[in-house]
Amino acid sequence: MKRYNKYTFLLQIILSSILFSCGNPEKKEETKNITYSEHIAPIIYQHCTNCHRPGAVGPFSLISYKDVSKRAKLIRFVTETRFMPPWPADNTYTHFIDENVLSAEEINTIKKWVANGSPIGDSTKIPAPPLFTDGSLLGKPDLVIQMREAIKIKGNNKDLFLTVKVPYEFSKDTFVKAIEYVPGNAKLVHHLNGHYIKYEFDKKKNVYEGLNIVNSDEFTPMEVFKQLSVTNDDGTFPVLTPSAVNYLPGVSYTLYPQGIGGFKFNRKGAILLNNIHYGPSRIDTTDNSYFNIFFGNKPERPTMEMQLGTLGISQIIPPLLIPPNEEKTFYTQTKALMDMSILTINPHMHLLGKSYLAFAIKPDGDTIPLIRIKKWDFRWQYFYTFTKPVIIPQGSIIYAYGTFDNTKNNPFNPFTPPQQVSDRSGSMKTTDEMFQFIITYLPYKAGDENIDLRRK
Ligand code: HEC
Repeated sequence: MKRYNKYTFLLQIILSSILFSCGNPEKKEETKNITYSEHIAPIIYQHCTNCHRPGAVGPFSLISYKDVSKRAKLIRFVTETRFMPPWPADNTYTHFIDENVLSAEEINTIKKWVANGSPIGDSTKIPAPPLFTDGSLLGKPDLVIQMREAIKIKGNNKDLFLTVKVPYEFSKDTFVKAIEYVPGNAKLVHHLNGHYIKYEFDKKKNVYEGLNIVNSDEFTPMEVFKQLSVTNDDGTFPVLTPSAVNYLPGVSYTLYPQGIGGFKFNRKGAILLNNIHYGPSRIDTTDNSYFNIFFGNKPERPTMEMQLGTLGISQIIPPLLIPPNEEKTFYTQTKALMDMSILTINPHMHLLGKSYLAFAIKPDGDTIPLIRIKKWDFRWQYFYTFTKPVIIPQGSIIYAYGTFDNTKNNPFNPFTPPQQVSDRSGSMKTTDEMFQFIITYLPYKAGDENIDLRRK
């Protein structure tokens, strides 16, 4: 009898709490008041429509009430699980510009709105959707460089990774402050990492020789560069400015505040996309992307780049060899040889990546957090720019840790059953692995810690 009572008691508590939450007039009122017009549209416009609009990378538009309401439950799911918006970096660890993360409150607002049948509310209160330009986000360019030929994308529903050379000849040497990439096919271009190659006038007769486009998954980097005829006429390599232009949906250029960054732009040169990643397409199509070049003054403080791990200055420990059916963690480290002001970082792994952590330990033992990615997603390879430069004192040790999941539980594992995977001396092939940490920095100057790197 006693037991029975206890259970009824418990049951009553549960029931009454359910009744309470349903019957509580205040709560109901609050949920009812959540409407698309006043609460949901602003969240979607701020966090989603830069990718979910006609012509952009998202698989559908989320501009109108109809677009959003018919996918209400799916939106609730992708926001609750934080699958969308895609922002792999953990914002409880460090902050970056353009950070796109929903607050717990915003997620809850979406949840309540869906639970209440996704009402539109007073449609006159829907804010104006944000304006997007298809051309330049930076204004009128001084020069536009087109790709030499349209890139052909087969309708085979597979990712495509290409290395592309975009050569040019101009009337004189000058300086550039930014190169902006404008995707021709924004639905498919998923990411791009581009370097700038500067040819000395006499060292390369014909900048246009060689192929323009090579499939990076089919050749070693050396073979790729040979086919693209990247070298000078005497076989030596020209000077390369790494990461001169990067692109991810929503992030199309790097422009630091006045005086920082920029480089010399020679009469002869090329943009080397190493590489460009197209998402799967069901139909045969093409891409005619182009580059907007913005001239500037001679840079006062050119940025420097340091690359740890694969093809970089520091070894991976142990060597990057991931046995099948295992999860394995690797690290790489380097010592800061001067006081550094870190501007931008880029963690890089491929399909087996699982999580990533980078930080520095100062000579006095303090830790400086850099980035934590709890759930690696190879599709979202952001270059993360800090809101203010992060100062790393000379003698600090910079560490990057990468964990790889080579089990069948990893949905991106390209092999069934899992196979041993390694970095095969810097192969760019997606099915080989890479473990890199790329740092863009300046030699420290007093006051750097106060520079606001948010450009907008
Ligand atoms: C940076 C670009 C970007 C942003 C920002 C973004 N999405 Fe997406 N979204 C995508 C892409 C690309 C896909 C296709 C799946 C993939 O590649 O991961 C997608 C897929 C989806 C899907 C379909 C998921 C499925 O499994 O079918 C939904 C729903 C969605 N997004 C909702 C949102 C919402 C809601 C927001 C804002 C809170 C948002 N997205 C922000 C790019 C974006």
